[in-house]
Amino acid sequence: MAGTGVSTPLLVIFSLSTVSFLHFAVSQKIPAIFIFGDSTADVGTNNFIDSKAKADHPYYGMDFPNSKPTGRFSNGYNTADFLSILFGFKRSPCPFLALLNDTKLFKRHIQYGVNFASGGSGILNSTGKLVVSICFFTHLLKETGTAVHLSEQLQQYVTVHQNLTVMLGEKATASILCNSLFFISAGSNDIFEYYKTNKTSGMPKFITSLISTYEDQLKTLFNNGARKFGIASVPPIGCCPKLRAKNDTGGCLNDVDVYSRMFFTKLKAMLIKLQDEYGGTMKYSLGNTYEMVSLIITNPLLYGFKNVTGACCKEKFCLPSGSVCPNRDEYLFWDQFHPTQKAAELGALTLYGASQTFVTPVNFSRLFLND
Ligand SMILES: *[C@@H]1O[C@H](CO)[C@@H](O)[C@H](O)[C@H]1NC(C)=O
Ligand SMILES: *[C@@H]1O[C@H](CO)[C@@H](O)[C@H](O)[C@H]1NC(C)=O
Ligand SMILES: *[C@@H]1O[C@H](CO)[C@@H](O)[C@H](O)[C@H]1NC(C)=O
Ligand SMILES: *[C@@H]1O[C@H](CO)[C@@H](O)[C@H](O)[C@H]1NC(C)=O
Ligand SMILES: *[C@@H]1O[C@H](CO)[C@@H](O)[C@H](O)[C@H]1NC(C)=O
Ligand SMILES: *[C@@H]1O[C@H](CO)[C@@H](O)[C@H](O)[C@H]1NC(C)=O
Ligand SMILES: *[C@@H]1O[C@H](CO)[C@@H](O)[C@H](O)[C@H]1NC(C)=O
Repeated sequence: MAGTGVSTPLLVIFSLSTVSFLHFAVSQKIPAIFIFGDSTADVGTNNFIDSKAKADHPYYGMDFPNSKPTGRFSNGYNTADFLSILFGFKRSPCPFLALLNDTKLFKRHIQYGVNFASGGSGILNSTGKLVVSICFFTHLLKETGTAVHLSEQLQQYVTVHQNLTVMLGEKATASILCNSLFFISAGSNDIFEYYKTNKTSGMPKFITSLISTYEDQLKTLFNNGARKFGIASVPPIGCCPKLRAKNDTGGCLNDVDVYSRMFFTKLKAMLIKLQDEYGGTMKYSLGNTYEMVSLIITNPLLYGFKNVTGACCKEKFCLPSGSVCPNRDEYLFWDQFHPTQKAAELGALTLYGASQTFVTPVNFSRLFLND
């Protein structure tokens, strides 16, 4: 599926990247960005909760401004940051929990967006509570984690919606929200946890129920003003260093990746149905993360990567007691589970501007063009 013919748009977009990234000018193209999901998008939520999934220590953040560990599961920025940058913001909006304690800050920030994402979380409330290792864009949780699951993230958003309405009035709030991006990256942790316990037995049924829950959650967002949805699907989780280690040949664990693809197919069908139900007042853009990552893995050099199988950061939790690779931009994986900053940037650029092979039916930037 990922033939060489489709790789050119990705590459072109990739080489444009450095330009837009180095300017820290804030010139918003949209009023606000609201971000939900797992560690792909977490910018510090888990620093505020009793979770084992924390990235608040070195080597995390070593390529972030001032080499600061912020809670991002990356050596620098993550996909939520790069998307925000592409839409003209400085970086991702702040975590909801970081704003909660400071009313002034809270009021100043929320009209530009909030980040609710929490590493280890899933679409299901039960995800993120097991003793599991979780893969790729998502994070490892041990003991009883307390990730903020998607339903709780939505409850938090509903309060923000109320706060905006009190501050700005109903009409202005509706106008801001309907022109804002609602970015969600979820599902990997749910699939992985199910796989960990049950392998592939009953997986199709499980995915159907997962999509049904996800649909209700998207409806909650719609009922609270969201109109433009940017959604990232599940990557080939069987290809992360942690799961490759379970294959004698070092290849990807193929049986779980069948379900990453199934998730995408069912998600796509659900979104088509939902848009139809809402008579076109809802717009969405669905990123085929599976295709994006698979293409990089099969053509690493084309995208500037030299190592797409191993983790740059050797120690399990990226602790300074381990070592870290000097050439981080050449690695697809930062740790056992998460992409490097470079890979996250490529992901965001693809979501923002790539062709239908990777984002369907339109790319994220297209969501904001009037037809
Ligand atoms: C809010 O402030 C209290 C008291 O200073 C502190 O204990 C708590 O951890 C803070 N919560 C957040 C989410 O920052
Ligand atoms: C999930 O949690 C939310 C609260 O965050 C709750 O309203 C909902 O009923 C829960 N769903 C299930 C299936 O338990
Ligand atoms: C935001 O709204 C919630 C729910 O209505 C309320 O409890 C909270 O005090 C509000 N926060 C601010 C800063 O107004
Ligand atoms: C494994 O399957 C059982 C039976 O269908 C189900 O109750 C359980 O929740 C599944 N495990 C996970 C982690 O989803
Ligand atoms: C392990 O990797 C090889 C490719 O190197 C692949 O052919 C095989 O199916 C993989 N095994 C499993 C269990 O996924
Ligand atoms: C990729 O990186 C891992 C971990 O640093 C290392 O063990 C492996 O040999 C590297 N593979 C290649 C092809 O360089
Ligand atoms: C992405 O969408 C924009 C419209 O915003 C369009 O101009 C562009 O051609 C799309 N990218 C690709 C590679 O199709």
